[in-house]
Amino acid sequence: MQTLKGKHIILGISGGIAAYKSAYLLRLFIKAGAEVQVVITPNGKQFITPATLAALSGKPVVSEFFAANTGEWHSHVDLGLWSDLMVIAPATASTIGKMANGVADNMLITTYLSAKSHVMVAPAMDLDMWAHPSTQRNISTLQQDGVEIIQPGSGELASHLTGKGRMEEPEEILRRVEQYFSVKESLKGKKILVTAGPTYENIDPVRFIGNYSSGKMGFAIAEEAAARGAEVTLVTGPVALQTSSNGIKRINVRSAKQMLEEAEKAFEECDAAILSAAVADYAPKECHDTKIKREKTDGLTLELVKNPDIAFHLGAKKGNRILVGFALETDHEHENAMEKMNRKGFDMIVLNSLQNPLAGFNKDTNQVSILKKNGEEIEFEAKRKTEVAKDILDQIEELEGF
Ligand code: PMT
Repeated sequence: MQTLKGKHIILGISGGIAAYKSAYLLRLFIKAGAEVQVVITPNGKQFITPATLAALSGKPVVSEFFAANTGEWHSHVDLGLWSDLMVIAPATASTIGKMANGVADNMLITTYLSAKSHVMVAPAMDLDMWAHPSTQRNISTLQQDGVEIIQPGSGELASHLTGKGRMEEPEEILRRVEQYFSVKESLKGKKILVTAGPTYENIDPVRFIGNYSSGKMGFAIAEEAAARGAEVTLVTGPVALQTSSNGIKRINVRSAKQMLEEAEKAFEECDAAILSAAVADYAPKECHDTKIKREKTDGLTLELVKNPDIAFHLGAKKGNRILVGFALETDHEHENAMEKMNRKGFDMIVLNSLQNPLAGFNKDTNQVSILKKNGEEIEFEAKRKTEVAKDILDQIEELEGF
């Protein structure tokens, strides 16, 4: 079956003996219906010839910044946009190190840096190189950057030593790629409300009280839920993000009151609500119709009133719906998150800490712990918000009653 029909894959090959397996991997991709562009490092060509790879892929292999015969520039930016997936197999310790540190001294690394798609890496090296702290540090950096590592296997290595470092077999790499592209329709038929972004509370026509939320976390959740087949209503405060899925109905709001109104309407129809918005807890008691003039005041005292608690309102009419909240804490994190979960009627709460430089407002990454009403607690490592969204939805799918 052509499981990869129509998919554009960049196959990156670096200079290790496992490169001989890349020809077979390429053959498997092609047989599964993918269009494959090979990008090989100068050392990679010492292990397998571009002629073999070009014959198998039906395309000239890209290796240098400029084509040898025509002098034409190979655009890594175009390649990066073309691909649906980039797979680097084998990835040597050197290539992994360059990827982790942005050392763009060959076509493979520049293409990696320009790739807009998901990236998978199948390392291959000797056991000592694999175990070295610098390799492990680089691997962990790549994971934080959202790269998927296809762990090497153990066994006899090309050096005749035995240990971990063998590139994963091509059939298994193909399976991982097929799994990546398989449409997971686990949320088909479900309606999900997501709140995202900050709220802005007007002081006058030119000033407001707001916060640093970018909406990245909430938008990632909305996109992932839609990718799993859910009908998503995304109620968002003012952010600079676009949605890309057709499965998302986006409603833009500004203040907490507007967010409450829209969230309550959507909640009626929903199976679950995920409240990732950073709602302003207070709003000015009055909003001036005209700009407050600096010249007319020595100072300014604003009287603030409490905003409605959206979570609490939804919790009160929850019925058998699932309600998931977030907690953004600076101290006594677990205690505070537990207290919030109980007070607001959440089934599950996602705790992110402002103490962690990889977590929180306006970052592309987050580091969360998930606490459930049944007492279960799971701590996740820091990863891209798109990956955190998957963890959150996986946990919601496991909740009883969903
Ligand atoms: O948008 P990003 O830049 O990607 O950042 C993501 C994030 C840090 C904003 C997000 O991960 C997050 O933690 N959101 C919740 C922030 C927050 O307001 O936490 P809180 O502890 O004040 O509120 C607890 C829960 O009650 C939240 O689910 C919140 O949406 C909800 N709430 C709070 C106040 C209020 N008036 N109404 C609410 O519904």
